[in-house]
Amino acid sequence: MTASPTVAFTGPTRVLSGVQPTGALHLGNYLGALVKFTRLQHEMETFIFVADLHAITQWQDPKLLKSQVREITAAYLASGLDPAIATIFPQSAVPAHAELAWIFNCVARLGWLDRMTQFKDKAGKHKERESVGLYTYPVLQAADILIYKATHVPVGEDQRQHLELTRDIAAKFNHDFEVPGYFPLPEAVVEGPGARIMSLRDGSAKMSKSDPSDYSRINLTDDADAIAQKIRKARTDAEPLPETLAELKDRPEALNLIGIYAALEGRTSAEVLSEFSGQGFGAFKPKLVDLAVARLGPVGDAMRKFMADPAEIDRILAAGAERARAVAAPTLAEVKGIVGYWAS
Ligand code: TYM
Repeated sequence: MTASPTVAFTGPTRVLSGVQPTGALHLGNYLGALVKFTRLQHEMETFIFVADLHAITQWQDPKLLKSQVREITAAYLASGLDPAIATIFPQSAVPAHAELAWIFNCVARLGWLDRMTQFKDKAGKHKERESVGLYTYPVLQAADILIYKATHVPVGEDQRQHLELTRDIAAKFNHDFEVPGYFPLPEAVVEGPGARIMSLRDGSAKMSKSDPSDYSRINLTDDADAIAQKIRKARTDAEPLPETLAELKDRPEALNLIGIYAALEGRTSAEVLSEFSGQGFGAFKPKLVDLAVARLGPVGDAMRKFMADPAEIDRILAAGAERARAVAAPTLAEVKGIVGYWAS
């Protein structure tokens, strides 16, 4: 069989991304994802959802799930996402995600999923005890993206592999069903020093919601005192800062703090390093505290304000879900036709 020629997708550019409602959001989520959502909404049509379908791949208390969805929505709004421009919605309110995921489960290969490092990290030694949902999680993620034919997906570095899988699924669907260029091959928007923020306690571990130590991360709801204390206690070394990034190769904690500073200021790590080279952490940390408090303080305050009005959040989510369903429906109908199903 000859391979069908690669035909490029010719539809409009679109942004899609989401965050799981599985705990307090931290600086890594903010710099790796939320800041980029806010920037991109002015450049392309933007869909940002709360990934509550993904959340239950690991146990979530049903009594808390809705308020966690509201909290993520409050963080989106507090970081500048504008519901008049971007479509903001809960994933579970758009059933087309799950329907397309089933079809993609039949396109994706077991071998592809076996390679997913996030499953291996989350499942640890006891993968037989994990839910089937955790294993097929990246397939649902591909459906989230492709149901809107999104072309750009702003995420942190840890999601890169899931984006590659999404491209593989899109390409195989287009090929197997002989619909060249039907789905786009979406790009991960992963750039800059905020793409991989590390733990404040261990420069070799990612900053994460699930780290047992609260001192490992700065939460978006932390007040100025907590932010200052966590930065002051962040692990560092006694050496002064060097002139080049290459010299920080074996100092991951130092590299991380420089990266955080750079991401908060929208500069490169090299620029920040040249400003502070020769200085020790005794001088650098107070500057980082001032910057972090100035940038994150207003986000935390705005989050608290939005959280105080859950009815308004629910209105925004309901309006977003209606818009998202309207965009997803024709794609799902087309896909059902392509696969040979009855149209509903
Ligand atoms: P989640 O909820 O784990 O994380 C949300 C976003 O935050 C980014 N992130 C980080 N960025 C920099 N440094 C860190 N330490 C850090 N930790 C987390 C993540 O890369 C992500 O962008 N699978 C996704 C949710 C999802 C999704 C999607 C994303 C479901 N469907 C479709 C994009 C498109 C997740 O678990 O993100």
